[in-house]
Amino acid sequence: MTQLYSTLANIYHEMYQHIFDYDKEFDFYHSLLQRTNCHKILEIGCGSGMLARRFLDNGYDYLGLDLFNEMLNIARSEIKSDRFIQCDMRSLSFNQQFDAVLITGRSIAYVIENQGILDTLTGIHKSLKDNGLLIFGVFEATGIFDNFNDFEQDIAHNNKKIKRISRLKLNLTTGWTYDWYAKYIIEEHEKSMVFDDVTTLRCFTKDEISLFLKLTGFKIKEIIEEGKAFTILAERISPLNSAYYKDQ
Ligand SMILES: C[S@@+](CC[C@H](N)C(=O)[O-])C[C@H]1O[C@@H](n2cnc3c(N)ncnc32)[C@H](O)[C@@H]1O
Repeated sequence: MTQLYSTLANIYHEMYQHIFDYDKEFDFYHSLLQRTNCHKILEIGCGSGMLARRFLDNGYDYLGLDLFNEMLNIARSEIKSDRFIQCDMRSLSFNQQFDAVLITGRSIAYVIENQGILDTLTGIHKSLKDNGLLIFGVFEATGIFDNFNDFEQDIAHNNKKIKRISRLKLNLTTGWTYDWYAKYIIEEHEKSMVFDDVTTLRCFTKDEISLFLKLTGFKIKEIIEEGKAFTILAERISPLNSAYYKDQ
């Protein structure tokens, strides 16, 4: 697993304020949630809490969840809130309490095994009220593999310069997966540090996502395209009626 959310959690927090437009992202989720008056929400992969602040400021009954305590500790100290829990998205244990569950930042890309995807979606199904909403973004396989290019980023944050050199390599062992090799070069006060990181990420075709959702009791309401990614808006349907659930 990547070090980006543990050893490098502070670097992530500093870098991504310049990479993601969190105001725009919040507005996007907020507009989808408002359509069905969702109030009580769970954000999976909440990271360092950049969206959490916005959800809380806008009156949502919010809970943030992430695998890495290093990320959650940044969120807790920045936002001065205890609305965060450490948990793996593959082993949720909530009981029909949320109006909506969001997986933000395309965090499901880190769940690379089919069983992990099914466990995540089943746990979300159990967490949602009847007709509750699931909203999540994924990298789209054709878009990613059609333009499978290495890239470099240079980010300045306060007195720090962060350079990230990314090299991509096909993996394809558990689906549309690839390995992301990243070198971080961090310069501050004339000192320089280098970190090497590697992780495997999964992208999906729309057909794959549709089948995973069908098997775990969801109906797709809308697919929103965003370049090399898409966001799915799905509704929890009940009763459960699928081959996958029969074995549970
Ligand atoms: C790209 S970051 C997105 C963070 C945040 N949503 C943002 O936009 O800044 C992916 C997040 O997913 C979390 N994550 C990865 N695997 C996870 C898992 N199995 N369960 C829960 N969170 C996970 C990471 O710790 C990280 O915070």
